Amino acid sequence: GEKYDLPEARKEIVSCGAPKSYTLCWWPPRRNPDTLKEVDWTVERIETRSCLLDPPCLALAACALLTALVWFVRDSLKISDIDQKYVFITGCDSGFGNQLAKQLDRQGFRVIAACLTEKGAAELKTSATPRLKTVLLNVVDGKSIDEAVVFVKAEVGEEGLWGLVNNAGILLALPPTDWIQIESFRKVIDVNLLGTIEVTLKFLPLVKKARGRIVNVSSIMGRLAFGGGGYCISKFGVESFSDTLRKDMKHFDIKVSIIEPGFFKTQITNVQPIEKELRRLWSALTPEIKSSYGTDYIDRYLKAQNTSMNLLLSSKTSHVTDCMQHALTAKYPRTRYGAGWDAKLLWLPLSYLPTALTDRVIRGLLPDPAESGVTATRHSQQQEPR
Ligand SMILES: NC(=O)c1ccc[n+]([C@@H]2O[C@H](COP(=O)([O-])OP(=O)(O)OC[C@H]3O[C@@H](n4cnc5c(N)ncnc54)[C@H](OP(=O)(O)O)[C@@H]3O)[C@@H](O)[C@H]2O)c1
Repeated sequence: GEKYDLPEARKEIVSCGAPKSYTLCWWPPRRNPDTLKEVDWTVERIETRSCLLDPPCLALAACALLTALVWFVRDSLKISDIDQKYVFITGCDSGFGNQLAKQLDRQGFRVIAACLTEKGAAELKTSATPRLKTVLLNVVDGKSIDEAVVFVKAEVGEEGLWGLVNNAGILLALPPTDWIQIESFRKVIDVNLLGTIEVTLKFLPLVKKARGRIVNVSSIMGRLAFGGGGYCISKFGVESFSDTLRKDMKHFDIKVSIIEPGFFKTQITNVQPIEKELRRLWSALTPEIKSSYGTDYIDRYLKAQNTSMNLLLSSKTSHVTDCMQHALTAKYPRTRYGAGWDAKLLWLPLSYLPTALTDRVIRGLLPDPAESGVTATRHSQQQEPR
């Protein structure tokens, strides 16, 4: 028979040990205060009922569902006439490029696959239809790019080029920064970034003609830098080049997508050449740098790297080529495609954490050098007043 106003009722409920006193936020004001007495022992039930059936709650859930549905339908709409469309892919000797060339060829696209070597081109031809054409291309050689443009121009004629996929890339290794010389940075940036830019600039008139698509293969290491050398730098560059290009080309109805794979088993992630490169860099270090890391550091480093690679490397490369295919065939291609569980669930979320936290996690993946923290301790001891 007792009556409470709302603040009092809240106090009552809190004092009787109700698990979630904030449930009163959802309390419908029209509810008869007489019933508040019941709340003492039925708070859980009332909370659930009032939250789910509350009109704002229902409206919000319906909105979220509708948005997801619209997004799903929009995302699955496809373009037509793919058998009339030309796609040019770089780096088709192996890996994603090779797989994508075959995949699109099977779908009916007119694929022009650019290979670095004659051997790669010949092998690809044997496993594709006669529709697929190959051309030799070294993306760091301007003359080679010009020759490829002439070849593609003659192939596509008035149709123009529907798809340009900038896929060619190299990694070398991801060593600590003070192990590498500037040439090593240049080599990777030349292929992955400047190669992508030059190929794009030279093929752009053909893509404009078809009002087509540009698909740039970056990496999750273009969102989060966790390895030394030129690789992350080059991929961050690919991201920013693609972002600018996308905005500039929107006027001409050209769509630009970025592919951000996690770790997949291809030539580029083959552990043996990476290990060989790391040992070469280690043996060229000065005794002073070596002793700052500790004599056994290279072995500890390689062991940690191999463990991470074993955990992360996925053989489901179709996750990547399916993203590339979606970017070329969807009516509304996405701007960014994260490919692989590690990209979506590990590296991307990690990139949104506060930097100090992200750095700590990444440092935990590799062993500490022998002198880690020693210099700082020595320095602070020198600063202490006597
Ligand atoms: N695999 C991964 O985990 C991963 C993750 C993120 C991003 N990616 C990116 O995915 C792309 C494809 O790599 P992938 O994994 O498929 O490795 P891949 O098998 O090594 O493919 C790279 C291709 O690029 C070619 N290439 C190298 N230098 C070139 C140059 N100067 N001009 C033209 N072509 C050149 C290679 O030819 P040769 O085989 O003849 O050397 C090879 O066919 C790269 O951009 C890479 O950075 C890969």
